[in-house]
Amino acid sequence: MSLFTSAVRPVLFRLGGGDAEKAHEFTLERLASLGARPRALLRSRYAVPAPVEAFGVRFPNPVGLAAGMDKNGVALPAWPALGFGFVEVGTVTAKPQPGNDQPRLFRLRDSEAVINRMGFNNAGAAALAARLAELGPLGVPLGISLGKSKVTPLEEAVEDYLTSYRLLHPYADYIAVNVSSPNTPGLRTLQDRSALAALLGALVGGKPVLVKIAPDLTEPAIAELLEVCLAAGAAGVIATNTTLARDGLAAADQPRAAEAGGLSGRPLTERARKIVHFVHEETGGRLPIIGVGGILDADDAARMFDAGAALVQLYTGFIYRGPALVRAAAKAYATAGEKARP
Ligand SMILES: Cc1cc2nc3c(=O)[nH]c(=O)nc-3n(C[C@H](O)[C@H](O)[C@H](O)COP(=O)(O)O)c2cc1C
Repeated sequence: MSLFTSAVRPVLFRLGGGDAEKAHEFTLERLASLGARPRALLRSRYAVPAPVEAFGVRFPNPVGLAAGMDKNGVALPAWPALGFGFVEVGTVTAKPQPGNDQPRLFRLRDSEAVINRMGFNNAGAAALAARLAELGPLGVPLGISLGKSKVTPLEEAVEDYLTSYRLLHPYADYIAVNVSSPNTPGLRTLQDRSALAALLGALVGGKPVLVKIAPDLTEPAIAELLEVCLAAGAAGVIATNTTLARDGLAAADQPRAAEAGGLSGRPLTERARKIVHFVHEETGGRLPIIGVGGILDADDAARMFDAGAALVQLYTGFIYRGPALVRAAAKAYATAGEKARP
């Protein structure tokens, strides 16, 4: 048992009477307030060098922070100190928006899972651009995840994403196009052939653009999406977002299963890995993949790399296992590399 699971996590999980969003806000505030010295101490404990290159970008290690944890980039310098080899901020939208009503974030503890229906609560693309301008370089690659503003009709989605892209691309090492959140009505229809082709046609050309996909797509739908990605020159795929399925929940968590939103964590592990494998096979490795979904230990990370992921990201695993998971996942990659070399 790590210090995190024995001492830190119980405190965080009790905050605000067990309100998961309170714990999230508290953690972000604390991380944002860390000075340079504690960050250096943390870095010496958690940062594992395991360099890798993907879509033309060099990463100090292949374990990233998934989108949604630090939507507005308030705690950016803390993430590399906790060992992350890259950070994806956002999802941000062209217009600031409050997201859905609270409560909108739920822990399913026995299942090591989370259900969220945050709905892209964020301060908007311009605020993030200002924050990034002030902050300067992060020291690790930065991905910026873009979504559609809720008030923007689907027919005007391309212009909405473009507005965010124009404001933010100077700060990004890659852009993630989020067309797979289940919490913005209609968003997932942007994964369809013609809508995605139009969106990628507008966004591809500058910084590497990766498409984040839903785990609820069928294989034929993914195959079609991959064709569009390849034809449009997308740099890669991020697989996967949260699922609308409710399989694999522990009995104690069944009452929570009825909450609307996307499910993440352990119940998603196998589905996400299968999709990564499918994408890898279907493209013959031509589209680099960021594997995300249900990585809770070093073995999950290793298997995600084996399935074809060039990089991985953590969200729910970080909630349940803390920064030791970042280190363990990076070590899993480094060790596999050593074994592969003669
Ligand atoms: C509370 C919460 C908020 C999220 N917000 C976003 C988001 O804004 N954009 C996005 O692309 N994914 C978002 N995600 C999805 C994660 O980035 C990730 O794809 C998903 O949770 C699966 O990984 P995990 O099982 O490690 O959590 C969110 C997930 C959670 C739990």
